[in-house]
Amino acid sequence: MTFPKISNSTKVMAVIGDPIHKSLSPIMHNAALKALGLNFEYSFIACKVESRNLKNSLEAIKELGFIGLSVTMPHKQAILKYLNEIDETVEAIGAVNTVINTGGKLIGYNTDWIGFLTPLKKVCNLEGKSVALIGAGGAARAACFALKKCGAKITIFNRTTKNAETLANDFCTNNYKIEAKNLNELQELASNFKIIINSSSLGMQGFNENFPNIAKSLNEDSIVFDMVYRPHNTALIQMTKNAKGTVVHGIEMLLYQGMEQFKLFTRCDAPEEVMRSSLQDKIN
Ligand SMILES: NC(=O)c1ccc[n+]([C@@H]2O[C@H](COP(=O)([O-])OP(=O)(O)OC[C@H]3O[C@@H](n4cnc5c(N)ncnc54)[C@H](OP(=O)(O)O)[C@@H]3O)[C@@H](O)[C@H]2O)c1
Repeated sequence: MTFPKISNSTKVMAVIGDPIHKSLSPIMHNAALKALGLNFEYSFIACKVESRNLKNSLEAIKELGFIGLSVTMPHKQAILKYLNEIDETVEAIGAVNTVINTGGKLIGYNTDWIGFLTPLKKVCNLEGKSVALIGAGGAARAACFALKKCGAKITIFNRTTKNAETLANDFCTNNYKIEAKNLNELQELASNFKIIINSSSLGMQGFNENFPNIAKSLNEDSIVFDMVYRPHNTALIQMTKNAKGTVVHGIEMLLYQGMEQFKLFTRCDAPEEVMRSSLQDKIN
């Protein structure tokens, strides 16, 4: 006879968002917990939380003693006002993707910027480099923070120019400027950038609009990072591969932001290869 090993002392973590049924966070975190023999000490679940229920859900999470949260769309910014503390990176980025519950006190962190920077730094040095950043939403905010930290020269291209300008202004200082342009200028200007990053929703599975065709501007020196991870080979990634450029897949960002979260949740180093293959199994 086998007995369930989830016990009264199992610590629960959850990803919250809406929709949530396609989230890969439970798969990735539970695979890591299992690999380290921590799968009954901790368990990671997914909870659909609609925007109108965010405040009450956080109260319940405190009350029920969940030890941590991974936070995804559409709550990354809205959650800020319900937290007891935030760390300095959250303050700079203006978005949260991780919450730790310490005895009823909710503390917000952001690991997206590390998830973005870790794989990018493996393929290039960013200091002084011109980077085209497509998109101006939450993911772009984390990218701006990371790129600025590394001294890159950023030009934001976005469908709504005003959102690009707002993001650029938020990260501008007296001696650091970011340019903001409309997405419809990308095709003409793409050849000015060796490093191109897509942080917009363009190219996502089930999304009707395509990424602009910038194939003519890509070559073997191009470095292209597509944050979109479904599909694995987006049209942008495929264009870059055809030009023999270097690609960074969205799955790498998902992995490294998750590894940082895992450390915050468990205080253990995350098993990289186990987590990567748990994601690859679901995405490829
Ligand atoms: N790999 C990872 O770990 C990771 C992490 C975070 C996000 N992501 C991906 O990054 C993407 C953006 O996420 P987010 O959290 O930043 O979302 P978000 O805050 O909703 O921002 C969406 C961005 O996409 C642009 N956009 C939306 N529809 C568009 C269209 N039809 N044409 C052109 N641009 C359009 C928006 O432009 P407007 O300003 O004009 O609305 C905005 O810049 C998603 O695909 C998400 O899956 C991946």
